[in-house]
Amino acid sequence: MDKDRVKAFADRIYRDMAGAMAIGMGYLGMKTGLFRALADGGPIDARALAERTGLHPRYVEEWCAGMAAAGWLEHDPDAATFRLPEEHAFLLASEGTDHFLGGLFLAGPSLLALAPKLVRAFREGGGIPPEAFDADWLEAVDLMNGGAYRERLGSYWLAQLPEVRARLEAGGRVLDLGCGVGEAAIALARAFPRSEILGVDPDGRAIQRARSAAEAAGLGNLAFTCGTVETLLAEPRFDLVLLLDCLHDLAAPEATLAELRARLSPGGVLFVMEPRSGDRIADNANPLGVTYYGFSLFHCTTQSLARGGPGLGTCLGPTRLVELLRGAGFGEVQPLPIKSFTNMFFAARA
Ligand SMILES: C[S@@+](CC[C@H](N)C(=O)[O-])C[C@H]1O[C@@H](n2cnc3c(N)ncnc32)[C@H](O)[C@@H]1O
Repeated sequence: MDKDRVKAFADRIYRDMAGAMAIGMGYLGMKTGLFRALADGGPIDARALAERTGLHPRYVEEWCAGMAAAGWLEHDPDAATFRLPEEHAFLLASEGTDHFLGGLFLAGPSLLALAPKLVRAFREGGGIPPEAFDADWLEAVDLMNGGAYRERLGSYWLAQLPEVRARLEAGGRVLDLGCGVGEAAIALARAFPRSEILGVDPDGRAIQRARSAAEAAGLGNLAFTCGTVETLLAEPRFDLVLLLDCLHDLAAPEATLAELRARLSPGGVLFVMEPRSGDRIADNANPLGVTYYGFSLFHCTTQSLARGGPGLGTCLGPTRLVELLRGAGFGEVQPLPIKSFTNMFFAARA
């Protein structure tokens, strides 16, 4: 046995463990408002930071030390102060933007808490059903995706489909299937006031949140329904169907895609956003790929298997995705050249 290799791998495991713990400390920094408080000022000592936030000084002191050791905060040992650099605040204290990374801090602890249930599913089959995921997971998905929907969907992303934009500007119909808490549907209702937008999701908690957000926004061209594609049989057809971060979660992907194809109006488009992954494991051997395999095991795969689905997984890959769309009868499937570190995009036409 190569002892250097053992040592290198032990270092590697500790580095990964440190990453998991840093995410946990990130959760604390976000939920307690510590990142926000640090972003509002220059260097500060832990006691003054505790006073500024009204938090327990000993916890704040230990958290500052841990975050400085992790490289998230800068530390001046002579002055005994801590500082959140502007570039870190851009990612840690920027709630509501598309560059805020706080969704990851909610996702990590929420998903890892399900590990004992997942062990049971490995042994006995089945999976963890959608209703077993806590409110932090719902919030995490919203934080990970919502900013991009608000800032890019109606503008940059749909600029790739000028004929669809023109229809929506004149007054078209949009379906967001698997709409979650409704951010994408709300963004489109705002961007295209002459169009009617319908969000559909089987998760009652998500639909409740989406309805409250729509009501607060005072948008009259928007509705949310708790259900699946079967709920839509009586609906007129749609010019645009969105399937955002949802296809790989479906329990019956082939049947759902075929039904969506039938729900498109002539010339209508299915717009698919999926987590960015490659076709081969080697393509996903990077921090994003490992994060997505974790999301896959702890959420996407298991919630699909729990409902008798195929468990397509978060790292579906572009080839399998295109095969699924073609298998459902879509004659034209086009990858869209939308720049994103985290997602890939396709347009499918009947
Ligand atoms: C990862 S979430 C994405 C939510 C939202 N589209 C977003 O991007 O924030 C996947 C969503 O798919 C929904 N979903 C799962 N199975 C579904 C089905 N058969 N029909 C419609 N939506 C479904 C889930 O309830 C969940 O809200």
